[in-house]
Amino acid sequence: MNQNKRKILVTSALPYANGPIHIGHLVEYIQTDIWVRFQRLRGNDCLYVCADDAHGTPIMLRAEKEYITPEALIARTLEEHKRDFADFFVGFDNFYSTHSDENREICTYIYEQLKAGGHISQKTIEQFYDPVKEMFLPDRFIRGECPYCHTTDQYGDQCESCNRTYTPTDLVNPVSAISGSTPVKKESVHFFFNLPDFEPMLKEWTRNNLQKEIANKLDEWFTAGLQPWDISRDKPYFGFEIPDEPGKYFYVWLDAPIGYFASLKNLCQREGLDYNDFVKQDSEIEMYHFIGKDIMYFHTLFWPAMLEGSGLRKPNNVFVHGFLTVNGQKMSKSRGTFINARTYLDYLGPEYLRYYFAAKLGPYVDDIDLNFEDFIFRINSDLVGKVVNIASRCAGFINKRFEGRLSSQLADTSLYETIGGSDCAEKIANLYESREYSKAMREIMQLADEVNQYIDSHKPWVISKQEGKDQELQDICTMGLNCFRLLVIYLKPVLPELATKSELFLNSGPLNWEDLSRPLLDHKINKFKPLITRVEQEKVDAMIEASKENLQATESLDNASGHLKDNPLADEISIDDFSKVDLRIAKIINAEQVEGADKLLQLTLDIGGETRNVFAGIKSAYSPEELVGKLTVMVANLAPRKMRFGISEGMVLAAGGDGKIYLLSPDDGAEAGMRIK
Ligand code: 2FM
Ligand code: ZN
Repeated sequence: MNQNKRKILVTSALPYANGPIHIGHLVEYIQTDIWVRFQRLRGNDCLYVCADDAHGTPIMLRAEKEYITPEALIARTLEEHKRDFADFFVGFDNFYSTHSDENREICTYIYEQLKAGGHISQKTIEQFYDPVKEMFLPDRFIRGECPYCHTTDQYGDQCESCNRTYTPTDLVNPVSAISGSTPVKKESVHFFFNLPDFEPMLKEWTRNNLQKEIANKLDEWFTAGLQPWDISRDKPYFGFEIPDEPGKYFYVWLDAPIGYFASLKNLCQREGLDYNDFVKQDSEIEMYHFIGKDIMYFHTLFWPAMLEGSGLRKPNNVFVHGFLTVNGQKMSKSRGTFINARTYLDYLGPEYLRYYFAAKLGPYVDDIDLNFEDFIFRINSDLVGKVVNIASRCAGFINKRFEGRLSSQLADTSLYETIGGSDCAEKIANLYESREYSKAMREIMQLADEVNQYIDSHKPWVISKQEGKDQELQDICTMGLNCFRLLVIYLKPVLPELATKSELFLNSGPLNWEDLSRPLLDHKINKFKPLITRVEQEKVDAMIEASKENLQATESLDNASGHLKDNPLADEISIDDFSKVDLRIAKIINAEQVEGADKLLQLTLDIGGETRNVFAGIKSAYSPEELVGKLTVMVANLAPRKMRFGISEGMVLAAGGDGKIYLLSPDDGAEAGMRIK
């Protein structure tokens, strides 16, 4: 048994509960999961917890838009997220929700402690208020003209054109993105957490714990000066009401990191573990947070300060990664590179992406690029061509000629030592430990090359045809399969499914790090079945196409608002251009939900003797029942489009604004099939 068993608690950032998991998110979950699986493979006790980040204005508004309660929205999303993670083999010990009793309780505790310590203050602040919607507007929900460069239609916090930051009240001609009304300035009392109280502690903690790159960033913040942090929001808000402060809620970013502890507590209760052991000030259990570079401020300043102020332990480190680009560019909905986890899984296996990310990831905050040409090449060349190839080259002979039995000795102990010996094993272990996955993968593939060279030079396919060479043949293949097994152990954190299939094939039981020094000899293996298949270009193309199509149906409506300023006119077209569009009155003769689609309804339309199947992104505004029998307007000569859920033969017309959708319908008397001019 491992004498120095470490106890470790690991988290990944909590995904917001108002949207699907996409491949950009997966960089982090895969990075974390690999690290956790590596720790377990080494015999350490490692718990991995996460949760949905369920509070805040965007979630409240999203639920409103779908005509459901926030509770219903977050419950649905929780199930979708859990399924996506499980299907990518992200093996949380607990995936919970910040909207939980445990979280409310720990938030209350931390807040009370901070208050008792004199770290909470109140101040009246002035903010924009939407007089129609009767709510204060978060920065992101205010649009207007940049006060510096005067570009129109900018967010309330930062200009996308000149990149300068400001406060929403600086915007010229501000507009509420929710109702389209002109916001008014209004005062209210807010609660603040006095971050500057913790500056000396934060400086020391930074120096002792964080990686250099991150510590440097923090130095910039220290130089700029820490400010009190606004931790309250006024009603209406979906979150936890602040104890004894009716109408005031904890800002989502206060309760989100506490959600790590809430998920842990829920797990401890279920498993009979001592929660306090993990969170007490002098805990010996290591704690690491994996996060993206955009949320460093919260994890390296606010969170450790909150913990310190409430007498709880701080993280040992915060591991920060960069963003994902696809084919060298920001993920894009129109290019089809904004790929949801589920869409990916509809076309490709999860381990391809796990391996590819591993092959690209290092311990730095640099962005990583998913290049699909390189993706196909790497998987096919490394996993199929190098690793699995070893097993498929050797297994047949052992199965057919030796009834599945391996030799009782290793033919080349020095090769075995090169690949599985402690020098090599420790090198790879250190690379995993320090999150140098790309270097680890390179190392492992070099070992695979060496094994393939061994097989190439010993030519079992030649020896198998020679008289009296049975022992030699069995020895070579035994050697090959044992080396394959070593590689599988090294790759197990990245490729858990390949490992399980290999364990079955090798009849070895679950492999762990210590098995490196115990070759399989005089041992019966099982029949070889293909362990992984090649990635096909067509599948990748289809996935990208599906990611485009998925969105086309709804994107334009989603972004729409009733204001020309927010939604400028498209380029001018000629009458000839317009006359190419064949618009028809269509009768909706059937309408159905589409399983697995968030926004789509499937409509059967009659356009005067011909029926059409159309997927329309109107689910948030209409139930299928209320649509049947209605007349509407459709583009009847739109080229059929293959979508994830079937072929769409046209498009119905609807208007979008103030977050709602309005299907067009003709005046009384119109009939299905009439042309619109
Ligand atoms: O940025 C985000 O997606 C947040 N939902 C992350 C929260 S992480 C933690 F602090 F809860
Ligand atoms: Zn600007």
